This record gives sequence, C-alpha cells and structure tokens, in this order.
Amino acid sequence: MTEHIQRQHADGILTLTLARADKKNAITDAMYGALADALEAAERDSTVRVVLLRAEGDMFSAGNDIGEFASIAVSGGSGGGERNVIRFLHALARATRPLVAAVQGRAVGIGTTMLLHCDFVLLADDAQLSTPFVNLALVPEAASSLLMPARLGYVRAFEMFALGDAVSAQSALAWGLANRVVPLYQLGTEAMAIAERLARQPLGALTETKRLMRNAELLKQQMDAESACFAQRLKSPEAHEAFRAFVDRRPPNFHAVAH
Ligand code: COA
Repeated sequence: MTEHIQRQHADGILTLTLARADKKNAITDAMYGALADALEAAERDSTVRVVLLRAEGDMFSAGNDIGEFASIAVSGGSGGGERNVIRFLHALARATRPLVAAVQGRAVGIGTTMLLHCDFVLLADDAQLSTPFVNLALVPEAASSLLMPARLGYVRAFEMFALGDAVSAQSALAWGLANRVVPLYQLGTEAMAIAERLARQPLGALTETKRLMRNAELLKQQMDAESACFAQRLKSPEAHEAFRAFVDRRPPNFHAVAH
C-alpha cells in the first residue's frame, strides 16, 4: 500500500483518491499496485456497488511517473509483464462494478486513457485531456488505440495521439469522452450524487448491463499487444531523448537520434 492512493468505503461506494498532488498525481508503480489491489478486492466484496475515482490537488493526473519510465529505459528492463500497471489495466478491463470518475485540471496519458474504462465521467470546467504518448516516443496504452478511435472517430483520435494537444472539457463532452461538465466547485458533490444514484440501482442488472456493453477479453488482448510495443519503445533512443528532455526541462530533439 502507498499513502499516495487513499481508499474510503461507505454506503456501497468505494472512493479511490490519487493523493500525490505535489507531483501532479503522477502515477508510480506502487500507486498502480494499490489501485489494482483495490479494484481486485472490490470484485470480491459484495458491499462495493460503485467505485469512484478522484484526485487531490489542481489536476487529476500527469500520467505515468516519467522518472520511473526513465529508470526502466536506463536499466534496460522490460517495462512489461512484471509491472503493476499491467495488473491495473487488466483490473480496469475486467471491472464489473460501475466506475465513476471526477476529473479536474489536466488528465495526461493514462490519466485520460483510464477514463475510457469509466462508465460515468464528470469533468470540471477546467479539465483538459491529453494523450501525448508519441511526444514521449511511446505508443498508446490501456486499449486506447482501440477505444479512442471507436469513441471519437479516427481523425480526432489520431490527432490526440500524434500531436498530444490537450482537449478542453467542452470538446471532450461533445466528442463523447464525458457525461457532464460541471463547475469546478461542484465536481465532488456532483460525482458523489451520481455514485449514490448508481449505488441505489440493482447491482446485478448494472453489472450484467456493463458486461454486455464491453468485451473485456478483447480489451485485455489489445492492452497486451500495446504493452509489448510500449516496452520496446521505452528502450528506444527516441524515448531516452524524450525522458532526458523532460528532466532537463527542454524540448526534445528527435532529429538527432535513431528511432
Ligand atoms: N512524472 C513525474 N513527475 C512529474 C510528472 C510525471 N509525469 N508530471 C509532473 N511531475 C512533477 C514535476 O517534475 C514537478 O516536480 P518538482 O516539483 O520536484 O520539480 C512537479 O510534478 C510539478 O510539475 P510541474 O511541471 O512543475 O507542474 P506544471 O503545473 O507546470 O505542469 C504538467 C504540469 C502536467 C503540464 C507537466 O508537469 C507535464 O507535462 N508533465 C508530464 C506529463 C506527461 O508527459 N506524462 C506522461 C504521459 S504518457
């Protein structure tokens, strides 16, 4: 367990909070482990009827911890199967409970792609969603290479992946990435109100509806294909340059490196 993921369970609602605000809720391997443990435990606990994902601070998440990416790249590790991120992604694919997300500020990388697995997404009006995998010389994960074009259409999804620009809350709503945009000060109460409504619904009917709407096996297969490619990319000279540039706080220069 890590102090950077907080769990609260009351009235059928399990609230999972990203609590690493000083690092913009960048997600470490330990945090993925805690999230995976919580989602796996929720599946075995009949008193959990809804899971609410939220974050402390001014942004939902700056995505995967880039320092950890850099260590995997330098150590030459696989960045693959043994990492907790894979367990977290599979838990998202397999989740039967409705997942509600409350997102303020930026949601970068997996901060956005995890929303594709949430069943009800509330954005604060300051939310900005981005998936700059290519900017880091990486590839999309969390089955987003399948889910994003399915949700937004190919050209919007390609632009989000290839250029990495942030999408505003209003565009995200119009494009089908979210259910509601609410004023920032109402985000917590609105998200809890939706979670409470879902918790009052018949759980069996809800979970069966979710199962019928999603192909968990297909999602898992796509995640595994992406992870294999992601692990290769992490070790690439392009990715080394991207991580160095992040640490040095300068723009990367991909012309100078082999791909
Ligand atoms: N991994 C590790 N640390 C991160 C991080 C990440 N993904 N994102 C932010 N941080 C850290 C910063 O290094 C900084 O640490 P420091 O205070 O010890 O120097 C702290 O969080 C605050 O970040 P900062 O960049 O100063 O905040 P900001 O509000 O100016 O910018 C972001 C916020 C999210 C726009 C910017 O931090 C960013 O672009 N992060 C990288 C996002 C990314 O590419 N994620 C991976 C996607 S695949």
